Amino acid sequence: MGAAADCQLGCRPSSPLRQVRRFDTNAELKEKDDLIAKQDDTDRLLVDQERQLKQAASRFRDLEVQMRQQEQGMKEVQSKYTAEYSLRRELHEIVQELRGNIRVLCRVRPLKPAEYENGDESSIVYLPEECKLRLTKYNEGPFADMYQEFEFDHIFPETSSQEEVFAAVKPAVQSLIDGFNVCIFAYGQTGSGKTFTMEGVDDNRGVNYRALDYLFDVVGSFPPTVEADMEISMVEIYNETVRDLLAERPAADEKLQALDIKFSVKDNSGYVVGLEMRNIENMEQVEGVLAEGHSNRATASTRMNEHSSRSHAIVSVFLTVTNKLEKRRTVSKLHLIDLAGSERLSKSGCTSDDTRLKESQAINKSLSALAEVIASLQRRDKHIPYRNTKLTFFLQDSLGGKAKTLMFVNLSPHKTDVSESLSSLGESPPPFPSAGL
Ligand SMILES: Nc1ncnc2c1ncn2[C@@H]1O[C@H](COP(=O)(O)OP(=O)(O)OP(=O)(O)O)[C@@H](O)[C@H]1O
Ligand SMILES: [Mg+2]
Repeated sequence: MGAAADCQLGCRPSSPLRQVRRFDTNAELKEKDDLIAKQDDTDRLLVDQERQLKQAASRFRDLEVQMRQQEQGMKEVQSKYTAEYSLRRELHEIVQELRGNIRVLCRVRPLKPAEYENGDESSIVYLPEECKLRLTKYNEGPFADMYQEFEFDHIFPETSSQEEVFAAVKPAVQSLIDGFNVCIFAYGQTGSGKTFTMEGVDDNRGVNYRALDYLFDVVGSFPPTVEADMEISMVEIYNETVRDLLAERPAADEKLQALDIKFSVKDNSGYVVGLEMRNIENMEQVEGVLAEGHSNRATASTRMNEHSSRSHAIVSVFLTVTNKLEKRRTVSKLHLIDLAGSERLSKSGCTSDDTRLKESQAINKSLSALAEVIASLQRRDKHIPYRNTKLTFFLQDSLGGKAKTLMFVNLSPHKTDVSESLSSLGESPPPFPSAGL
């Protein structure tokens, strides 16, 4: 009945199914609209992303071009650096060869106030020919006109400044940068100015600090493709015993342990087993390390110089230069050596003291061995007696061959020191000690 009545109304019965379908259609439409809206959003997003991608790609291309330009620039800088470096190294090598790999420089300290207040005059006369000086043997008496002349590669008179002295050392430091091993010594009797030359005083630094300062300057100007790494060690050789001045001591009053020098066949050189090395990147660190080492240095009082150093102090700088583009690495060493006083036993007033006697004997033995090694190198002997003392063994790979050696002979101008100066210069002391000395 219900169904027939629906038909009479002239319309189809509205079935629940149809209503659902209509409902579905609306939902579908809405869904479609939503989808279309979403599609539009997605399209916009895609367009946006495409635009961003295009921008990124173009930026990337720009960066690539810039990078290639920079790379090219870097290569040009590097090749200019390499060319300039090789040329400079070659020229430097020629100059060094001409000068000789062992150079002897003389430095005369000024008379001390007490000395010139006494009316004493310098016993050193500088000759008009550059690099020659005369040592007046006697100041008075029948032999007053006796003298001896000496020639050096360079002479620094009393008035020379630390800057002037360092200017003569610079080429040797340059050799280190070029990959050669270098030794710089200060040699002379107690109180002649060795420590002043090597270390200097707080407000007037000597060779050690100036060399390191210069090294940092040069290393700082390397192109980014060249890396440098610097390490430092400090030892003293006292009575034929090597002590690490940077080693930690278990107790402040405990003695520094003696170190062994061994021979490396691979490097054809001696090396100190267990040597403490500190990485250094600036002068502040250098100051700290050297101050630590100095406070450990064995010093004893002698009649001639209250703080006389009775050991050889060696500051060693190990420089590694890595050229990343050329895949080349050089390792070189600079030894800065403040030798112990070279005076003869009678002069140091130590003869009655066993310890001092032993010290003086050890010092004289190692200084003679050093002189023998240098003489042997200059004669180009086949066998160089490096192994005779710890000092020469330690320095073996930095003495001779392509290594550069610079020796300061420090002289005191005082008349009472003439005999020692002559002895330092390899001459026998004057035979008439009573005649004015
Ligand atoms: N060129 C110089 N100018 C000014 N003063 C100097 C110079 N050389 C040395 N002196 C002074 O002379 C004194 C002795 O010098 P220094 O301590 O350097 O001698 P040294 O050779 O190291 O002695 P030692 O063997 O006893 O260690 C110090 O007071 C130092 O400051
Ligand atoms: Mg000294």
